[in-house]
Amino acid sequence: MSDNLYPVPEAWARHARVDAAAYERLHAQSLSDPDGFWLEQARRLDWIVPPQTAGDWSFDEADFRIRWFADGKLNVAANCLDRHLASGGGETAILWEPDDPKEEARRITYLELYEAVCRFANVLKAEGVKKGDRVTVYMPMIPEAAVALLACARIGAIHSVVFGGFSPEALAGRIVDCESRIVITADEGRRGGKRVPLKANVDAAQKHAPVLEKVIVVKATGGEVAMQPGRDLWYHEAAAKVSADCPAEPMDAEDPLFILYTSGSTGKPKGVLHSSGGYLLWAAYTHEVVFDYRPGQVYWCAADIGWVTGHSYIVYGPLANGGTTLMFEGVPTWPDAGRMWQVVDRHQVEILYTAPTALRALMKEGDSYVTSTSRKSLKLLGSVGEPINPEAWRWYHDVVGEGRCPIVDTWWQTETGGHMITPLPGATALKPGSASMPFFGIEPQLVDGDGALLEGATEGNLVIARSWPGQMRTVWGDHERFFQTYFTTYRGKYFTGDGCRRDADGYYWITGRVDDVINVSGHRMGTAEVESALVLHDKVAEAAVVGMPHDIKGQGIYAYVTLNAGEEASEALRKALRDWVRTEIGPIATPDAIQFAPGLPKTRSGKIMRRILRKIAEGDVSSLGDTSTLADPSVVDDLVANRIS
Ligand code: PRX
Repeated sequence: MSDNLYPVPEAWARHARVDAAAYERLHAQSLSDPDGFWLEQARRLDWIVPPQTAGDWSFDEADFRIRWFADGKLNVAANCLDRHLASGGGETAILWEPDDPKEEARRITYLELYEAVCRFANVLKAEGVKKGDRVTVYMPMIPEAAVALLACARIGAIHSVVFGGFSPEALAGRIVDCESRIVITADEGRRGGKRVPLKANVDAAQKHAPVLEKVIVVKATGGEVAMQPGRDLWYHEAAAKVSADCPAEPMDAEDPLFILYTSGSTGKPKGVLHSSGGYLLWAAYTHEVVFDYRPGQVYWCAADIGWVTGHSYIVYGPLANGGTTLMFEGVPTWPDAGRMWQVVDRHQVEILYTAPTALRALMKEGDSYVTSTSRKSLKLLGSVGEPINPEAWRWYHDVVGEGRCPIVDTWWQTETGGHMITPLPGATALKPGSASMPFFGIEPQLVDGDGALLEGATEGNLVIARSWPGQMRTVWGDHERFFQTYFTTYRGKYFTGDGCRRDADGYYWITGRVDDVINVSGHRMGTAEVESALVLHDKVAEAAVVGMPHDIKGQGIYAYVTLNAGEEASEALRKALRDWVRTEIGPIATPDAIQFAPGLPKTRSGKIMRRILRKIAEGDVSSLGDTSTLADPSVVDDLVANRIS
């Protein structure tokens, strides 16, 4: 196995904040004296009232609670802005690379960002937004998106970002769920030379979201949009009327910072709620240690602000650390497959954090797009969102990083707020495809289906045995669902929904979801969500959705569809159903394969046997297992005969 072990480069071992010995010591200390450890770490934030208590939690039903630093008070925006002004007001906070490389990049200093945030916060106040109100943010990747989040944080409003690729229907559902009376959007977004009609989507969403009263529109492209008097206002007009001075609202550490909707195994997306103090500490600490970040370095997380990665590692972590965060409006493959490396050279990026799906897409275009650029500035590479296959890992390491740059393969989730299992560049020898070791304070365990603890080298379900500051606090509006979803499968433990292997060296290897969630291009999609969208179509009687292997996306979406009696299967209908799902949820949910199925494999009690459907979608039809408990075993033959390859 030694071929597969990449030792810590000597220079990293010498210079990194955390070397192998420090990792062992700090991890042990974080578990043996959590209060001491976390109170010490909490000092990296600027508190209005410093906390005297650290974790106060129980995962047991009788006294279920999760609280961190509960007696502390702070403001998240002040931590990301104000405290850097005295020494670094002129430093670059956001470096913005536009979609079109022919346009100029924008450089926004901490002082400029501070003023922009204060102004935006005053516009929100003028529109009646108060502490605790929910504000939906439906924005393209422009600096104003970060400004909007920080403006909410400054006045204690709870932001709920909805990815700009979601449809009006999906947007409406999220607005209604958190009762958000205000949406911040832009006229249009731009991605890969195409326009996204964000404002028009908000208009369409309002039909299903009567709670919506105000729309603040940032002029991004100058595209034509209809403004509804009394409801819609241009941001630049409103901003001109308010001052650039806005005091930061003192918040309890446990006050909510944001809601972010994510897919689960049931139909409706959950509003994951994060706290102010614990979350910010987690984002800042992991960003500093995992990327070994030093102020002055240009750091690029190539995610979208619509996902948790964008929240923690484009906005909150880097800005809390006084860093320079690069924000990219475009896509990796436009105008050509060399764009990422051109951006790296143009801005002298030292740390690059991206997803395996992007790497696989670029890898297939050949090395010349990479090798025609310098990339000498790169020091560290990161991966997130899904298991990285060793082939993509090696390409990232050998071709992109020319063998110089360690790769931090960071495993975490929307629910965890930040990194949980990850290498540290100065401490961890790397194994391609392994997220490796737990971060400080994290106690991962593997359990079998009955919850029995598995020791040593083994494979099982991944649970986390104790709370950590960045943990989500509840599902918005449904605390019971929070408890049921995460803490009842294995009593007293947080269940991640992931399967995992631990090798003889104690390295963790995430094997993928063990629930009805699939990971499409690093984005979580609930199979039930796609099924609900399909059955809304008037020709569809029933639908079952599973994941299938996909070269670029990691997993693709395979849908089995039973039509209503009298309906004819056809290519045209297949296309219509794909378009239907795109409109209902968004392009990321578009099924890759739709198989028309006269019947689905069900048990006598009517439960669909997904195990069989997964195997057929994977093309693994020789080992379908026991089908004798099916109400009608013959449906399987039909499914196998008509599978889409
Ligand atoms: O299955 C794991 C996978 O992505 C899931 C979390 O998805 P989401 O909440 O959308 O957050 C994505 C960004 C953190 C996990 O349950 N996942 C994420 N990172 C990795 C991963 N699987 C393997 N290796 C990773 N590095």
